Amino acid sequence: MQKKVYMRKLDKNDLQSIVGIEERVTGMARPEYWAKRIELAETIRPHWASIIAEIENRVVGFLVGGSGELEFGLPGRVAWIDIIGVDPVYRSQGVGRALIEEFMAWADYHGVKTIFTLIDNGNQEMEQFFGRVGFTPGKVLHFQKDIRSRSRTPSHNFVRDPS
Ligand SMILES: CC(C)(COP(=O)(O)OP(=O)(O)OC[C@H]1O[C@@H](n2cnc3c(N)ncnc32)[C@H](O)[C@@H]1OP(=O)(O)O)[C@@H](O)C(=O)NCCC(=O)NCCS
Repeated sequence: MQKKVYMRKLDKNDLQSIVGIEERVTGMARPEYWAKRIELAETIRPHWASIIAEIENRVVGFLVGGSGELEFGLPGRVAWIDIIGVDPVYRSQGVGRALIEEFMAWADYHGVKTIFTLIDNGNQEMEQFFGRVGFTPGKVLHFQKDIRSRSRTPSHNFVRDPS
C-alpha cells in the first residue's frame, strides 16, 4: 500500500532537506544557491508555487515554480515549474505526481490557465514523467546563443557588483 503523501508550503527550514535531495539526485550540493532561492520563494514568488512533499514527517520531494501575467510573451496568467526533485529512495510512490497535482490545484485556484516547464532535449526520464502527468510539448520556441567567445566586458558605470 502506498504511504500518504502530505503537502505543504516550502520554507527556510527545508534548506538542508532540499540540498540533501538534490545532492542524492545530481551528486552536487548547493547550499548557498538554495538559501538564496528559498529566500526568493518566500519574498517574491507566490507562496503556493513552492511545495514540499512529506511522508511520515520526512521531506521526500520538492517543487519550485513561479507564476505571472504575460510572462515569456504568453497570454494571460501562466505558471511554470523550475525544478522538481524526489528523493531516490521514495521514487515510484506517486510523490512526483502528488507535487504536480498540488501545484496545478493552486495554479487553477489563482486563475492560471496554462502551466509549463523546460526539459533538456534527450532527458527521457523527465520527458516520460511529464508525459505521464499530462504535459504535452508546447508551442513556445526555445532560442539560445553560445556567448563563450565574446570578449566585451560589462559597462562598469552601471554594473556596481559584477558578481
Ligand atoms: C521525475 C521524478 C520527479 C518522478 O518522481 P516520482 O515520485 O518517482 O514519480 P511518480 O511516482 O509520481 O510517477 C508519476 C508517473 O510518472 C512515471 N514516471 C516517473 N518516473 C519515470 C521515469 N524515470 N521514467 C518513466 N516514467 C516515469 C510513473 O510511472 C508514473 O506514471 P503512472 O502514474 O501513469 O503510472 C523523480 O524521478 C525525480 O526527481 N527525478 C530527478 C529530477 C531532477 O533531476 N531534478 C533536479 C534535481 S533535484
